[in-house]
Amino acid sequence: MVLSGRTKTFLAESRRNFHTTGALLPSGKYLAMELTKQLGIPHRKPLKILEVGPGIGSVTRIIAKRMIQGDTLDALEINPSFARTMSELVAKDDDFSAHRHQIQVIEGDIVTFPGKGEYGAILCGLPFNNFDSELVGKMFDALEGLLKPGGRLSYFEYWAIQTLKLPFVGSKTRLRLKGIGRLTGEIRKRMGSSTRLILANFPPALVHHLLKPMG
Ligand SMILES: C[S@@+](CC[C@H](N)C(=O)[O-])C[C@H]1O[C@@H](n2cnc3c(N)ncnc32)[C@H](O)[C@@H]1O
Repeated sequence: MVLSGRTKTFLAESRRNFHTTGALLPSGKYLAMELTKQLGIPHRKPLKILEVGPGIGSVTRIIAKRMIQGDTLDALEINPSFARTMSELVAKDDDFSAHRHQIQVIEGDIVTFPGKGEYGAILCGLPFNNFDSELVGKMFDALEGLLKPGGRLSYFEYWAIQTLKLPFVGSKTRLRLKGIGRLTGEIRKRMGSSTRLILANFPPALVHHLLKPMG
């Protein structure tokens, strides 16, 4: 199998920074399609879009294909190597040619990213199950704060990671994962959400779509 330079970058960063990368492989097309579903609604209005954790751009590529005139996309990435790869991709790859002037790659951390109530759509690839629940709480506060009332936040998690992992991990990790499950479950309930299972991904993933209530 021949791997592209970008896939090699992902594999190397996954080894070097597994804590923040949280995946062995980039997301597949079906997962990216579900995650970006809200952008595919016919005759929708232009949106200010935020993608958090684009990695090597597997989801960004689909976002770009679904962008319309008047949209803008900020792609926020904490890993400098991924941020560099993303800037090159957006500047040179044909999939981005129609909308590249509407896209900005930003190197930074979601927790300290400035702004309030700005984005109509947030697509998030953060590996929440790798973090402690305090950090996950801060990340969701930031995501919710950046979203406009009536805006949508879509994120994914690997299916059954909690149930599959739980029997094989120590009590500290078990408590951590259960805490994250409880916290994210409460957030989904409070905001209102729908969930879809994508089996055609390695590993299979759950995509959650959350809606920020108006006012
Ligand atoms: C599971 S990978 C997802 C990559 C890509 N979106 C995909 O689906 O293939 C998680 C991504 O989130 C980024 N990330 C992790 N923590 C972050 C943070 N605090 N702020 C912004 N990006 C972060 C990682 O560097 C990585 O690119």
